Amino acid sequence: MSEEPVPPHLLPLATRAPGKCILFGEHAVVHGRPELLLAIDAETQLTVRPAKRSTLNGIPLDSARNPYAMRAMEALWSGQSPIAITSTSRLPRASGLGSSAAFVAALGAALGAATGGIDRPRLAAAAFRIEREAQGVGSPGDTSAAVGGGYLSLNGTGGTIAWKLKEGDRRWTVRRHPDPEWVWIVADSGIHHRTGDAVRAVGARLAAPDGAELLDRFERVALSGMKALGAEDRTAVGRLLDENQELLRIVGVSHPRLETLLDAARPEIEGGKLTGAGAGGCVVVLPKPGREMAALRSLTRAGANAFAVRGSRTGAALLGELDPQGN
Ligand code: MEV
Repeated sequence: MSEEPVPPHLLPLATRAPGKCILFGEHAVVHGRPELLLAIDAETQLTVRPAKRSTLNGIPLDSARNPYAMRAMEALWSGQSPIAITSTSRLPRASGLGSSAAFVAALGAALGAATGGIDRPRLAAAAFRIEREAQGVGSPGDTSAAVGGGYLSLNGTGGTIAWKLKEGDRRWTVRRHPDPEWVWIVADSGIHHRTGDAVRAVGARLAAPDGAELLDRFERVALSGMKALGAEDRTAVGRLLDENQELLRIVGVSHPRLETLLDAARPEIEGGKLTGAGAGGCVVVLPKPGREMAALRSLTRAGANAFAVRGSRTGAALLGELDPQGN
C-alpha cells in the first residue's frame, strides 16, 4: 500500500490517483468527527510534459477555469518552467467520488516527483490545502484517500497510523485499515451538486439546538462502522450504513432520487447510503454475499449508472515511463 514516498522522476511522466467513497462520517468530519473512506479502483490519470506554455488538456491554464491546477502549481511548482498536463478520468465530476481530490493528488504526485520526490504526509498536506483553497470548505478526507489508497479513516480507531495532518489548531490522524476485499456497488444518480453548498447547508442545520447530539450520533455510527469493518462483519456494516443514511437524511442532504436508488437495491444489499456531499451524486451499497450482480442490475434498472468497486491497491503513484518525444 502507499505509505512510501513518491520517488524523484524527470518530466515527462504519468501519474494516477484513486477516487473515493465515504463509508461513514461525511459532513460530520468537517466538524471534527471521525470518517471512514474507501479509495476505489476507479482513478484519474495524468501526463505532465515540458511545454512552451502551461495547459490542461490543450487549453491554457486559467485561475477561474482551473482553480485546482493553478493552486497546485503555485504550491508545488513555483518558479519552474511551463508544463502541459493531460487528464483522463473514470470518475464522474461533482458526484461525490472525489474527482477533484484525485486530480489534485495525481498532479501533486507528478510535480513532487519532478522536484526531487515527495513524501506522503507532505503530499497529503499539500493536496488538502490546494483542494480546500479551491473549494473554500472541507476536510482532508477526500485528498487523504486519493494520496493513500485503500481503506483510511480520519480521527478514527483501529488500523495503523499512516500520517498526521494539522492546520491551525485542527489536527487529524489518518489511519490505514485492513482491506476485507469486499465488492461494493456505486450508483451515480446523474444529479450534480456543489460540495461547498452542501457543506454550508449542513453547517447551518448543525447550528440548531440538536446539532451537537446529531454529531455525537454520526460519531458513534462511524466508530462502530470501523470496528465492524475490522471484524469483517457485513451485517453490522450494512446496518450502520443505513443508520448513517438516516442521519444524512436528517441533516438534509439526501435526495428523492438517492432514496429511490437505495429502495431499488434494498432486497440485494446489507445496507447503503449516499456518499460524499449528497444532495445528488452517488450512493454506495454493500451487496449481500453473491448478490453483487443482482444489486448492480437493480440499480441500473432504477436509472443509475452503476458499477462495482473494490479498495484501490495504491494511492497517488507514478504510472511508468513516458516516451520523451512521443504521445
Ligand atoms: C465530501 O466528499 C465530503 C464532505 O464531508 C466534505 C469534506 O469532508 O470535505 C461533505
